[in-house]
Amino acid sequence: MNPVLASIQNLSISLGGRQILNGVNADILRNKITALIGLNGSGKSTLLKALIREIPYRGQIKFFCGHDHTLPQPKHVGYVPQKLAIDGRLPLTVREFFALSLQRRPIFLGIAERVTQTADRLLSIVGARHLLNRPIAKLSGGELQRVLLSLALQPNPELLLLDEPAAGIDFADEKPFYDLLADINRRQGVSILIVSHDISIVSEHSHHVLCLQNGKVVCQGPPGEVLTPELMGTTFGQGKRLYGHDHADGEHCEHDDGCGHSHGM
Ligand SMILES: Nc1ncnc2c1ncn2[C@@H]1O[C@H](COP(=O)(O)OP(=O)(O)O)[C@@H](O)[C@H]1O
Ligand SMILES: [Mg+2]
Repeated sequence: MNPVLASIQNLSISLGGRQILNGVNADILRNKITALIGLNGSGKSTLLKALIREIPYRGQIKFFCGHDHTLPQPKHVGYVPQKLAIDGRLPLTVREFFALSLQRRPIFLGIAERVTQTADRLLSIVGARHLLNRPIAKLSGGELQRVLLSLALQPNPELLLLDEPAAGIDFADEKPFYDLLADINRRQGVSILIVSHDISIVSEHSHHVLCLQNGKVVCQGPPGEVLTPELMGTTFGQGKRLYGHDHADGEHCEHDDGCGHSHGM
């Protein structure tokens, strides 16, 4: 059995005349949780967008999919973007938002009972059933992330790409959220690639870690081997901390001072 679901080989991306990713070599492991870490601006979101072929790249992304691992593409990839800017006036409930993806007929003709049942089931998985009839544009960041995650689970993805899914979630809610991902990974055997800033969560929940620095993978391996104090010092700069969250106003927080909270390392 090939333990690798996707092999990224010599992947380079230039955007706006700048080289963003530069010869990235990395593996995403089958049925495992792979964590992608790195400072803001290191190219994490860009790498995820290349994996869903949102942006052109040089190099290769080879998938080994299907039950015999010979399919060149995953049948379904679930993707939860880092930020989804939803117009505050968008007059859609969560149920209607699901219907846009889950039913063929236009939603002005009504929502199929099947859609409501599926939405209810998917929202239950992420503990967000109560959001079914809420306006999507009025959800908090964490509520929206849960809705997007539940939508990404349908149809059953072979690969789930999550770009800082916990960024909008209160610190107190984060652990259950990652427990939930671990559960989805175990029960459904979904391979997960997750971008995270939280080293303690990464070391607890991931099987494989990729460290990105200035558009290059500078280390990869099991968290116990990769997440050494030396690496944190040399790779991410003395005194730099990976944890800290993107704030709603766009302020980036790479140090734990003045950021409300920090997570132990
Ligand atoms: N469409 C784009 N055009 C030009 N530069 C971009 C574009 N998208 C991202 N970048 C730049 O690429 C770098 C990496 O961005 P990103 O992948 O979002 O990093 P990360 O997710 O690690 O914070 C940043 O310097 C960002 O400004
Ligand atoms: Mg990003």
